[in-house]
Amino acid sequence: MIGLRRGLVRGARISALGVHVPERVLTNDEISQFLDTSDEWITTRTGIRERRIAPVDQAASDLGELAARRCLESAGLAADAVDLVLVATISPDHLMPATASIVADRIGARRAGAFDVQAGCTGFVYALAIATAFVAAGIYENVLVVGAEVLSKMVDWEDRSTCVLFGDGAGAVLVQPTDNGSIFAFDLGNDGSGAQHLLVPAGGSRLPASFETVRRHEHAMHMNGSEVFRFATRTVAESCDKVLRDAGLTPDQVDLFVPHQANIRIIESVARRLGFSEGQVFANLDRYGNTSCASIPLCLHEASQNGRLKKGDVLLMAGFGAGLTWGSCLTRWEL
Ligand code: ACO
Repeated sequence: MIGLRRGLVRGARISALGVHVPERVLTNDEISQFLDTSDEWITTRTGIRERRIAPVDQAASDLGELAARRCLESAGLAADAVDLVLVATISPDHLMPATASIVADRIGARRAGAFDVQAGCTGFVYALAIATAFVAAGIYENVLVVGAEVLSKMVDWEDRSTCVLFGDGAGAVLVQPTDNGSIFAFDLGNDGSGAQHLLVPAGGSRLPASFETVRRHEHAMHMNGSEVFRFATRTVAESCDKVLRDAGLTPDQVDLFVPHQANIRIIESVARRLGFSEGQVFANLDRYGNTSCASIPLCLHEASQNGRLKKGDVLLMAGFGAGLTWGSCLTRWEL
């Protein structure tokens, strides 16, 4: 049975993982040298201590390509066996073509269809849902889901309320068929009435690029932080609650909760509402900041490397972001 808005899914699993983060580390102290902020403010308000920054000549596809290659290597799968490449990103190489087209070509996935998924920072969960639907329906066998971001190029480095939050990185997962119901519940949501709270105002058809839009910094991310904060704490908890109820599970049966890494206070608030203990919640935003669509796969990789996520564990993932969108996914970890 497939129920992608809400409901149970059978027949698809995450079978491999790969990540890439740029080497360059930018600390809060370094930012404090050119902006009126401090390590103390950023750490206490967000939990972020440092983030990775991509070189000037790298775009989302460059990071996504490396993560995708590592994912295929770890699966032992040839690129020409990939049926579909999905790239979730809010920092695409171009408005067109899709970053997924470029990633698919670079990795040699010549047989694959490719498109981008734009659902703000929830993009990875949305793309995972699409991949799961294709695989569970028996249409495709090998779907590559890549979350790739170079948000350092999308922020206004003179706006202290946004630029300190974001970082660059990429993560990829392979979704393949299974006889067990490894990925078993999704909830995807959207409230477009909140679109103005988190957006890049110019560069699209609403406000095409002009000297004025550049002068007004309207090609960078604009955010109403407190509105997004309120929205996130409420909807993420509700969405997680829905998928748990759909799967007939209670929070104490979740081994690991991996939320989108935007702000440690959002993560703690959601965890409190759901009744999770500290040991059930994974966070690494202290070292990477908010990497949008890459944040969940980066966490999955670290958690599986350090033994926090083990084969057979019940894993709950949750994202939220521009749209405003949200989404959660409950799965049994099979790696
Ligand atoms: N350093 C020092 N002071 C700062 C900074 C900074 N980096 N940024 C803002 N301030 C100041 C503000 O100017 C304000 O000063 P004022 O009182 O003199 O006006 C003061 O700090 C308090 O600002 P608030 O916005 O009330 O601070 P808050 O505690 O709400 O934290 C934050 C702001 C961190 C942005 C928080 O609202 C937040 O994390 N919101 C959620 C954002 C989020 O998750 N976004 C990503 C969504 S995912 C996606 O799709 C991209």
